[in-house]
Amino acid sequence: MSAAPKQVRLCLNLQATGRHDAAWKTLPPTADWLSGIDYYIEIARLAEQARFDAIFIADRLGVLDEPSHRRPWRGADPVVLLAALARETDHIGLVATNPALQGDPFTRARAIATLDHVSRGRAAWNIVTSQEEVTRRALGLGEQPDDDTRYRRAEEFVSAVDALWASLPEDAVVADAAADTYIDAARTRPVRLDGEFHRSEGVLPLPGGYRGQRPVLFHAGASRRSMEFGARWADALFTSQRVPELARTFTAEVKGLAAANGRRPEDLLVLPGLFVILGATEAEARQRRRELDQQLAVEPLLAALEAVLPTGFVEFTAGVVAELQDRGRFRREYAHETFRENLGLSPHPLAAGPTAGPSGGSAGADEQTTTGRRR
Ligand SMILES: Cc1cc2nc3c(=O)[nH]c(=O)nc-3n(C[C@H](O)[C@H](O)[C@H](O)COP(=O)(O)O)c2cc1C
Repeated sequence: MSAAPKQVRLCLNLQATGRHDAAWKTLPPTADWLSGIDYYIEIARLAEQARFDAIFIADRLGVLDEPSHRRPWRGADPVVLLAALARETDHIGLVATNPALQGDPFTRARAIATLDHVSRGRAAWNIVTSQEEVTRRALGLGEQPDDDTRYRRAEEFVSAVDALWASLPEDAVVADAAADTYIDAARTRPVRLDGEFHRSEGVLPLPGGYRGQRPVLFHAGASRRSMEFGARWADALFTSQRVPELARTFTAEVKGLAAANGRRPEDLLVLPGLFVILGATEAEARQRRRELDQQLAVEPLLAALEAVLPTGFVEFTAGVVAELQDRGRFRREYAHETFRENLGLSPHPLAAGPTAGPSGGSAGADEQTTTGRRR
């Protein structure tokens, strides 16, 4: 019997009006793209109808800058926006981009855990490890730290989030009315973080993930340090590779790094970015790309194109998704409840640490140090 064909993963990068900078000019005028929610609900539902793995909300924590004056720029907070979309959908994964260099681990741990519960196990945190100029201006920060400091800081931050997520195990919630005890403190695993960059002490006030599993972690980056960090922490890596050969090299490298960390290489997914312009033939697609590019300058107006949301997306699902399904390469129904399960990843119990494989996880109630290891 031949093996089942390898399954394709599809995540929608939910930009305001589409990937192409001129996409908005082909749509009816609206001021709603910056702040309206209905538009995002519509697209999230379309993505779920097409059985997409996830909606990915790219983001930067920063002030509006000049390039964003020329196109609608989604400025809404990703976790808040995704919490709303969680209640309008049932199956699709929800990937929130949030930094590991700014803010504090406690706030991040609580926000992502909340999204995971609100969505019943569909949250992912896309961990950002850079500090752009727009962020420095918004937050009044100095120069971007050097690479070493950046990744030491990110490592400490994510370790702390991971430990906080594990600090209130579900079995600590005993709800014993007769004993006048709702939470058994002896079963909690308080964090004691006294790190180089952050301090935090105590127990997160809610379990860190749905049904005892860690929220899914994404990361994207190009540098060697980023690849090492991702191979240690991430369940999935976004990458933008211009040709298949480079994508293959990148994939082999990060999976090798994951294996060196004691992980199963298939538990680190690599998701290359695609910028899709459809046509019935290649020539037609190329012509559409030329027409859309002309819009970058000025006139004339054109019909909606594929690099445009939501019209192009509907065409994509009717054409490409249907074709993948016919070839047995993409699901027709969601098979599981949580994002982790639907991605085909091994379970990752809270408290299992950064490199847990299928047998990862540990039990016991004691204090956790800064790195998530127990004393
Ligand atoms: C495909 C891809 C998507 C990214 N998306 C975002 C994003 O939405 N927001 C952001 O602040 N940084 C984003 N980044 C930056 C990375 O999250 C990461 O912080 C940065 O690349 C790390 O820098 P380094 O590769 O120099 O180590 C992205 C990077 C890549 C390669």
